[in-house]
Amino acid sequence: MSITPKGLASSRRGPFDVQEFLAIRTLRVNKALDGFLPSARTSPSTIHRAMRYSLFAGGKRMRPALCLAAAAACGGEEAPAMPLACAVECIHTYSLIHDDLPAMDNDDYRRGKLTNHKVFGEGMAVLAGDALLTQAFEIAARCKGWRQYPHQKIVLELAHAAGSLQLIAGQVADLEAEGKKISGAQLRFIHERKTSALLCCAVRLGGMSANCSRAKLGALTAFGYHVGLAFQVIDDILDVTQTSEKLGKTAGKDTKAQKATYPAIVGLEESRKIAARLTSRAFGALKSFRGKAVALEALAEFLLRRDR
Ligand code: IPE
Ligand code: IPE
Ligand code: MG
Ligand code: MG
Ligand code: MG
Repeated sequence: MSITPKGLASSRRGPFDVQEFLAIRTLRVNKALDGFLPSARTSPSTIHRAMRYSLFAGGKRMRPALCLAAAAACGGEEAPAMPLACAVECIHTYSLIHDDLPAMDNDDYRRGKLTNHKVFGEGMAVLAGDALLTQAFEIAARCKGWRQYPHQKIVLELAHAAGSLQLIAGQVADLEAEGKKISGAQLRFIHERKTSALLCCAVRLGGMSANCSRAKLGALTAFGYHVGLAFQVIDDILDVTQTSEKLGKTAGKDTKAQKATYPAIVGLEESRKIAARLTSRAFGALKSFRGKAVALEALAEFLLRRDR
């Protein structure tokens, strides 16, 4: 990506190895997820194999990484944030399994492998998604909660992000916009809900697990909102510019399905500028952390420049 977001150069203090940060967090998140899920042999084994198939297919684990980085920015430990990071990843993976169903985006590949319904059948894929969503709430319900953020607030946070006013609302609007000409504002509505809401939730939960102040939570919300929007703009761009091999999912599908995307509505170059602008806004939201949010900054930059 040729465009550098404003505030980037000044926001980086010393070297931060984002690849290493991600690699280490991915290993820890995978281990924690493995512990939370019933084993593949647990009866009924088909559903547990199906859940694990998609969960461990090789996702980038960006939401858990953002959750853990937000906790660190607020001076928190990783251990209390980990269940929340895992809960968000379970919801994300469920949303992908359902998003890929023939009744939705009808995709054959995800995370470099055949989609869940291609391997286990549509009925089992629906159930694997349902089970991962439920698993997320079981994990969250077991959290002890924090002084400012009791356990009820944590569960509500997840329910709100995943529910029919946010993630589901975005997926509804996405389906209903297929083949139609929609405005930039309508597209923004879709992206805010289908993608930004859960990503922002991941960041906020990280802060909550560190019992952060209201002001810090506000800053994290602004960061998560803008990074979440940038994330979906980049996802739309990559669908046009990358190969299926690189993405691990079929490229060029949005154009074929006449999806409402940023490249379709404003063109590729303008989409890149919008993604950079959103990322700059995200950086701006981190000012009050005074250099303590290095991992969040590095992740936002990484997400803007990602090629898969
Ligand atoms: C894909 O998300 C779906 C969107 C919300 C754009 P990711 O690009 O994070 O997918 P994984 O988790 O790495 O597979
Ligand atoms: C997916 O958006 C959003 C959710 C699953 C909530 P997309 O349909 O653009 O994601 P990909 O491109 O299939 O990963
Ligand atoms: Mg979709
Ligand atoms: Mg899709
Ligand atoms: Mg997409």
